[in-house]
Amino acid sequence: MPFPKHRPRRLRKNEIIRKMVRETTLSVDDLILPLFVTFGKGKKIAIKSMPGHYQLSVDNLAKEVKEIKTLGIPAVILFGIPEHKDEVGSEAYNPKGVVQQAIKAIKDKAPELYVITDVCMCEYTSHGHCGVIKHEDVDNDATLELLAKEALSHVKAGADMVAPSDMMDGRVGAIRKILDENNFSHTPIMSYAAKYASAFYGPFREAAESTPEFGDRRSYQMDPANSDEALREVRLDIEEGADIVMVKPALPYLDIIRRIKDEFKYPVAAYNVSGEFSMLKAANQLGWMDGERAMMESLVSIKRAGADLILTYFAKEAAKILYRAS
Ligand code: PBG
Repeated sequence: MPFPKHRPRRLRKNEIIRKMVRETTLSVDDLILPLFVTFGKGKKIAIKSMPGHYQLSVDNLAKEVKEIKTLGIPAVILFGIPEHKDEVGSEAYNPKGVVQQAIKAIKDKAPELYVITDVCMCEYTSHGHCGVIKHEDVDNDATLELLAKEALSHVKAGADMVAPSDMMDGRVGAIRKILDENNFSHTPIMSYAAKYASAFYGPFREAAESTPEFGDRRSYQMDPANSDEALREVRLDIEEGADIVMVKPALPYLDIIRRIKDEFKYPVAAYNVSGEFSMLKAANQLGWMDGERAMMESLVSIKRAGADLILTYFAKEAAKILYRAS
């Protein structure tokens, strides 16, 4: 029935009616805040390209964790910056490594904060790749063993969930197996199932000091042009035992989020990555955009696309706005 019988503007008249017919709502319960943990003591090193974010030493995490709790953010995901890097990323599975210590410190201060850990090699290897190098390539099967060891050491330290981000084939199965063999069959895996080889990780690599020394990650991360392949990746990870599947980055891949949600009806996470964060921050600083509105619009669009969970560097700022609005 056409105009003038139908006037869509009737339901946009004021915020009361707009809220009543709103289809998507963002909640603080959907948000996961990434944190960078570094070695040493008393450190709070600003990450230039990510205003408001820091590399924190374990002792400084305590204060941060209190604020996160007060804001009602339910979960964090940890990335580690070790003191020593080597060819096989030994610090990744050191029981006394930075992430392992950080998990214990957080659980000590805030046992109810849900701790997820990123499981990958790139922050721990001297060459910056996500696995071990053989014949100038990342060796898939040799890496699986190390990733499994890393995941187990995180869970032993008290992590609630592990999130492999390396994009090796078979890693979800390898991690599920080692966790089950060690009585951690109740610990879930959130797999970075469709992770694209993206320029939007730029600021993160400064933050995590994980830029590859040679080449790039295109032999293991996905080609941005592919969409059917993302469904195949997700199917494999679900078959191997993934509990939550992730799409990363988020905003340039909203179509992928929607396809995965429609196809699998599984919990879907989306990683609103460092470059997505830094772009908005930069535009806001230049006075080119209202950064706050652009942030909330981005986050709600990720949910509208079909994501249940959002990993975002905006978690604290968004939580404050959501709190004011409630
Ligand atoms: C590690 C990892 C990366 C990110 C999360 N885990 C970087 C990469 O693959 O190079 C990126 C996160 C971000 O940009 O915010 N493999």
